[in-house]
Amino acid sequence: MDHFHSEHNELCCESVPLTAIARALGTPTYVYSSAALAANYLAYAEALAGTDHLICYAVKANSNIAVLNQLARLGAGFDIVSGGELARVLAAGGDPARVVFSGVGKSTAEMAEALRAGIHCFNVESAAELERLDRVAGELGLRAPVSLRVNPDIDAGTHPYIATGLAENKFGLPIGEARACYARARAMRHIDIRGVDCHIGSQLTALAPFEAALQRVLLLIAELRADGVPLRHLDLGGGLGVRYGDENPPPPADYVAALRRHTDTLGLCLLIEPGRSIAASAGVLLTRVEYLKENQSRHFAIVDAAMNDLLRPALYQAWMAIEPVTPRHDAPERRYDVVGPVCETGDFLGRGRSLRLAAGDLLCVRGAGAYGFTMSSNYNSRPRAAEVMVAGDRFHVVRDRETTADLLRGERPLPGS
Ligand code: LLP
Repeated sequence: MDHFHSEHNELCCESVPLTAIARALGTPTYVYSSAALAANYLAYAEALAGTDHLICYAVKANSNIAVLNQLARLGAGFDIVSGGELARVLAAGGDPARVVFSGVGKSTAEMAEALRAGIHCFNVESAAELERLDRVAGELGLRAPVSLRVNPDIDAGTHPYIATGLAENKFGLPIGEARACYARARAMRHIDIRGVDCHIGSQLTALAPFEAALQRVLLLIAELRADGVPLRHLDLGGGLGVRYGDENPPPPADYVAALRRHTDTLGLCLLIEPGRSIAASAGVLLTRVEYLKENQSRHFAIVDAAMNDLLRPALYQAWMAIEPVTPRHDAPERRYDVVGPVCETGDFLGRGRSLRLAAGDLLCVRGAGAYGFTMSSNYNSRPRAAEVMVAGDRFHVVRDRETTADLLRGERPLPGS
């Protein structure tokens, strides 16, 4: 079910018209549907029922603490990649014992924070990281629970910037070196081996790459077991894609069923780290048309959201649907480049979109609940957008729009000037 739907010619989130949110808070504003978030999470929970599992929502997709709190209440664990994300999970009431920590560059301080918090597992991405973690845990008098993240050298068939499972990518240990690294880990005094981890990329729209990676990981698991390495879980990462336009990704139920065909008999707890497929369809970015402008070759709709608010179109040439909140029929249909106020030619939300527009109209960018606000910045000294969560017929401001004072906070001129 789509929790963003049209009622009386106006787009609503659950029972709240988006015009009411824009009127109350201005634009640009991110709007999330609490019911959509829950439904997207529960699709995974239902597909995994009956098998030992942990769903670790990838915090990087949308880290607003209201989002994390809602998922924590539904029983989610979390996949984090920084001390900042750990702090958010804890502030949101998340259970540290259900947190896995991924990422190639964990600092000593981040390791110590996560060890003290008592997280479920570190997904260790290199032998050097393993050695540092052993030392940090030893200094704290603790033992670090560890999975090694292996890189299976599989082409995920996604945008090159978000493919992570090829040998040329910086992620994970080459799978051929994993066995030796597990042997080293076993000999370390402050490391507890918990499992094997793998993540091959994001916005995957086919199951075949997941299954190919899993086949390689299953071979490794058999070897590790032959070596006597004690394993408790298998973490297969995230990466299931969503439909932004004409993509046709399998639903979570099919994806989980494909994994379970191979994993149910392993006797291991199955961990997954979905981000986008939980958050993307649960959010839109609301923006208002400031000006219409045309030249010899193009029509431009200049809106008040820009690449600093939503980077995906500029960074990955990502196509995201742009819809009028209150469709009008009294303006000619034109093919618009929908662009923001930032001083870069790459600052667009969409190009060549057929729309009927007048200045002042509200637009919304669909699928913006994942990698939207979390990738936003203050480029061009633009305050970051407000975030709103809708639940039924109520809406709650879950992050205030930044102010000019927020922008200047912490800066100062040189002394004596
Ligand atoms: N686990 C690990 C170790 C990851 O690196 C990622 C995403 C995930 C889980 C979650 O993947 P998901 O289920 O969301 O696909 N900014 C990009 C996406 C970057 C994803 C990076 N890693 C975008 O806007 O498309």
